[in-house]
Amino acid sequence: MRVLGIESSCDETGIALYCSEQGLLAHALFSQITMHRPFGGVVPELASRDHIKRLIPLVDTVLEEAKLGKQDIDAIAYTAGPGLVGALLTGACFAKAFALAFNIPCLAVHHLEAHLLAAKLAMPELEFPFIALLVSGGHTQLLEARALGQYELLGDTLDDAVGEAFDKTAKTLGLPYPGGAYLAKLATESEGTVFPSFPRPMLDRPGLDFSFSGLKTHALQAWLKSKQDHAAKVGIAKAFQAAVVDTLVQKCQRALQASAIKKLVVAGGVSANQMLRTQLQAMVIQHGAEIYFPAIEYCTDNGAMIAYAGCLHLLQGEQDTDWSINVHARWPLSSYHSD
Ligand code: KG4
Ligand code: ZN
Repeated sequence: MRVLGIESSCDETGIALYCSEQGLLAHALFSQITMHRPFGGVVPELASRDHIKRLIPLVDTVLEEAKLGKQDIDAIAYTAGPGLVGALLTGACFAKAFALAFNIPCLAVHHLEAHLLAAKLAMPELEFPFIALLVSGGHTQLLEARALGQYELLGDTLDDAVGEAFDKTAKTLGLPYPGGAYLAKLATESEGTVFPSFPRPMLDRPGLDFSFSGLKTHALQAWLKSKQDHAAKVGIAKAFQAAVVDTLVQKCQRALQASAIKKLVVAGGVSANQMLRTQLQAMVIQHGAEIYFPAIEYCTDNGAMIAYAGCLHLLQGEQDTDWSINVHARWPLSSYHSD
């Protein structure tokens, strides 16, 4: 089965063609980052207008790369949430119109489930159940992934998502938007002011919830009190990243200790962070557990994960049952079931 995947939940238009027999056939991505950068964040109306412009040319690019025509597509999967409603509507309307025109099935995909399945895209041998750490610009969650479409929330952030805290701290340091990767790069520089260790939020309390807004404020205060030079930027980037990574690693360790499942899957944009990868790897070895990450290019938003997640559900016989357009700004993964 060849599935066309459409991702348009935020500021990336992602299109991909996944085949249940041959794997990923082609994918294409257009990032709107440079358009939103002057505003310091995503402008929803601009995002929607841009998705509209990109969808058709990107589908053509993907089909050309796969040397296939529109008639070779067996089904279409689109991100139905969570995300920006206007942006989601562009992908959903396109997908429904395409499916109607070619008389093929169409399926709504949960964006967060697609992130969780991105590691499986390169390693189909990765089986359920697993513990999942989902770290993106909008979400920080620990989940128990029991089966396709069945997820239990174990812990969530009480305030900022970890990617959001990275981006806001990067903004404080004058780095371009979105600053997570820039901050991580700065933290690898050898010179820098040495700051007292930043707090590790919520580690003194039981449970698996997170909180990152205090840490972000701590970084801001440290910056305001510093010389505000390059050495201070490097020092704050190092101390901030170390605190975030340490907190995430310790919460993952708690989740593994409390569960019989010894498999950890890390997903979402922040899973591209090298320090997080290295320290999580070291922790799971101590626990005799296994760890899986998506390939770096599938950590952030992309169409391949949508085509793949859609394909797994479509193979189970699922599909949208009517032609109405339903998208969800908020859509908890734990309340989502494939049946
Ligand atoms: O999953 P994603 O592409 O979008 C959402 O669905 O939110 O994640 C984007 C987030 C941004 O906050 C970005 O700064 C962060 O992932 N990010 C990183 C790194 N690469 C991307 N954060 C820390 N270190 C990185 N290397
Ligand atoms: Zn995402």
